[in-house]
Amino acid sequence: MAKLNILEFPDPRLTTVAKRVEAFDEELKTFVEDMTETMYSANGIGLAATQVNVHKRLLVMDISEEQDQPRVYINPEVLTRAGEQIHEEGCLSVPGIYANVKRAEDITIKAQDVDGNTFEERLEGLHAVCIQHEMDHLVGRLFVDYLSPLKRNMVKKKLEKQRKAAAKEAADHHVM
Ligand code: NI
Repeated sequence: MAKLNILEFPDPRLTTVAKRVEAFDEELKTFVEDMTETMYSANGIGLAATQVNVHKRLLVMDISEEQDQPRVYINPEVLTRAGEQIHEEGCLSVPGIYANVKRAEDITIKAQDVDGNTFEERLEGLHAVCIQHEMDHLVGRLFVDYLSPLKRNMVKKKLEKQRKAAAKEAADHHVM
């Protein structure tokens, strides 16, 4: 298994619209394993292929307490949505930034597993928030896109500052 590099906002590649997965082959299985490992090592509860610069409709998710129930959703589609909830979200592509986003409370989705079998699932609460957040990635949308342009600009500046500080710190040390 391999850990993949996660793109960070405002990288323009994060705005790419992903294409349907057509081939359910060994390469896909390896990619799903790499995605899962990357999500766990970054302490994420979800990761979309877009975030690792692979523009296919695929996401992995694990909202279990023990982080031992990895799931994969390939070619996901929303069938129904109901209610609303506001949840504070963060994103592996927007490190250190958190904001409230309004989403559906309850959704039903249709997706395929790694072997290409179609399944339907009803998701509520955090599970529903997570899959809506990840499905947004697949159409090139980030949670900061729901913020006002002013707030989004503040996020951009804060991330630039964080990156500069990290680069300066690295330059002052022996980083291997
Ligand atoms: Ni995200």
